[in-house]
Amino acid sequence: MTVLCAVNDIEEDSARGFDLDGRTVFAVKKDAQVFVYLNSCPHLGIPLEFQPDEFLDMDNHFIQCANHGALFEVETGDCVAGPCVGQALQAIAFHLEDGNIVLD
Ligand code: FES
Repeated sequence: MTVLCAVNDIEEDSARGFDLDGRTVFAVKKDAQVFVYLNSCPHLGIPLEFQPDEFLDMDNHFIQCANHGALFEVETGDCVAGPCVGQALQAIAFHLEDGNIVLD
């Protein structure tokens, strides 16, 4: 069982990255809902962020890849702009348990 963190450890409209034995994932909170994705851009298969925990665009509306600017919907991971339109981030299955985000 892998506990990422407490839901309350992620601010609304922000994200946090996590290193899990070689693979990195990130969690985003939007409208009090949490979404977790593999930190790998479908364009080149590399991490999305340049700065720690910086996964969102300036308006905190989309997930943004810092490499070439691809934008992804927070709720679905679908790329809606940039070089990988039509592809999507890989969602990571999780559930909430005692206020914590637990990977399945
Ligand atoms: S690596 Fe993400 S947009 Fe190019």
